[in-house]
Amino acid sequence: MARHLITSALPYINGIKHLGNMVGSMLPADVYSRYLRQRGHDVLYICATDEHGTPAELAAKEQGLPVDEFCAQAHDAQKAVYDGFALAFDYFGRSSSPENREITQHFARKLNENGFIEERAIRQVYSPADGRFLPDRYVEGTCPHCGYDKARGDQCENCTRVLDPTDLINPRSAISGSTDLEVRETKHLFLLQSKLQHEVEEWVARHEADWPQLAASIARKWLTEGLHDRAITRDLDWGVPVPADTWPELAAEGKVFYVWFDAPIEYIGATKEWADQDPENRDWKSWWYDVDTQVRYTEFMAKDNVPFHTVMFPATELGVREPWKKVDYVKAFNWLTYYGGKFSTSQKRGVFTDQALDILPADYWRYFLIANAPESDDSSFTWEHFTATVNKDLADTLGNFVNRVLSFSRKRFGDEVPAGGLPGEAEAKLGEEIAALLAEYESQMEALQFRKAAAALRALWSAGNSYLEEKAPWLEIKTDKDGAALTLRTAMNLIHLYAVVSEPLIPATSAAMRSAFGLPADTATWVTSDEAKALASVPSGTPFTVPPVLFAKLTDEDLATYKERFGGQEG
Ligand code: 2FM
Ligand code: ZN
Repeated sequence: MARHLITSALPYINGIKHLGNMVGSMLPADVYSRYLRQRGHDVLYICATDEHGTPAELAAKEQGLPVDEFCAQAHDAQKAVYDGFALAFDYFGRSSSPENREITQHFARKLNENGFIEERAIRQVYSPADGRFLPDRYVEGTCPHCGYDKARGDQCENCTRVLDPTDLINPRSAISGSTDLEVRETKHLFLLQSKLQHEVEEWVARHEADWPQLAASIARKWLTEGLHDRAITRDLDWGVPVPADTWPELAAEGKVFYVWFDAPIEYIGATKEWADQDPENRDWKSWWYDVDTQVRYTEFMAKDNVPFHTVMFPATELGVREPWKKVDYVKAFNWLTYYGGKFSTSQKRGVFTDQALDILPADYWRYFLIANAPESDDSSFTWEHFTATVNKDLADTLGNFVNRVLSFSRKRFGDEVPAGGLPGEAEAKLGEEIAALLAEYESQMEALQFRKAAAALRALWSAGNSYLEEKAPWLEIKTDKDGAALTLRTAMNLIHLYAVVSEPLIPATSAAMRSAFGLPADTATWVTSDEAKALASVPSGTPFTVPPVLFAKLTDEDLATYKERFGGQEG
């Protein structure tokens, strides 16, 4: 029994996420959390919306809403979709919370006391027409590298180069369009990461052997390039304010922390939000402060987030000089592509999470995405692959098995699990096979190898099908009624086992399978190896019902409709 702290990268507030975001952070974190809870571990799974920064301000402007109102609405909209996907967060917070403000300011004060923050004057774009400095995306213009004329101040979308707003040719304000821009001097706080390089290197060296190769290699690459001091404040209205007790002048000018400074701190902030909802029973510090090896901390994210989590946030935590929990295991994902290309909001390519739920229940998506998680490489979403997987694995292998067994048994033996004879050779062989596959499934889950875990789960479902085909109770019953009853009783015990072990991937379907035997829908405890071998948890005489079809088969017509609606070709 261990204590597991689990976080997934905080989704930006500015819009509903697509399936690629879902599979690259939240969904696998949920699957892993559910699995660990079922195994009896103490789990805290935390996530939140990442609400600060220019993207939030610009999205609010586009909708004509004050930014706080926009964020409140957008948070609820994202939360509703995650509920729809059955993501069982212990808490889904907001980086704009008072808790995060307090902890972020505390971190900044400590970093300052320890000599890791310095005030520096920099030259920045100022717009007299807008009466403000224009950071990051607030300036647009022509890219000095490729000539693209809609490059943003932080990055050129065309050639992907990272830019500084002052690099742009013919710059204009993204707010007013004004080209009357000046460069003025202004003061900002810099985090002296260069002073922490050595310590971060040592810390990474102690941990990288445990990390998956993708995370370790990205961390190495960043360390080799060297940690640079970087500005951690911005001239924005929306963000965690610089604390006035420490930097009165900057606070008076309305400076706020840069979104990437406060976002990872919100992992801690959201845990405090969780505790503040029930302070008598919840202790946020017991997950984060001075816990060393008592808590195992696993982070989930897509690969573009790895530098922030393996190098920059640890640098911040180290510089604070307090015993804040640092990550133990970084699970990073490659990209899910849409027909080999990028998911694109502007070109309406790909599937957004709210649309996905409009079409089909969460379990269809959860299973497909985990079975095809972009772990060792990018993986491609196509409607052909999706419909084929649903039909084969979910509708045929699992759903059909469950319905066939239960309907046939009810028809021939009534509404209770039939008795039949003692298990024979076929049952013993099946039990051995199931126990071995279960062990494989467990070890892949524990290794956070989600594709392989899904493959083991599929193999468990298949083993039931092979047993049923071999025993063919619909023929057996003609000559050996007891034998057929034994086969069906064994198959029903497989259904019970499937209900338990499929829960991390397809929780709603698991609940439906459990309720067929009148078992409560909530999380079941796991199955031991001996139970898997015996396949006797559901005794004869147990009443059961036949659930409605678990997974609908998708037709060629469905496939054509999806492709038509979402655009289904190479992009
Ligand atoms: O890349 C992103 O979507 C960021 N919002 C992730 C933040 S993760 C954490 F550090 F907050
Ligand atoms: Zn460019």
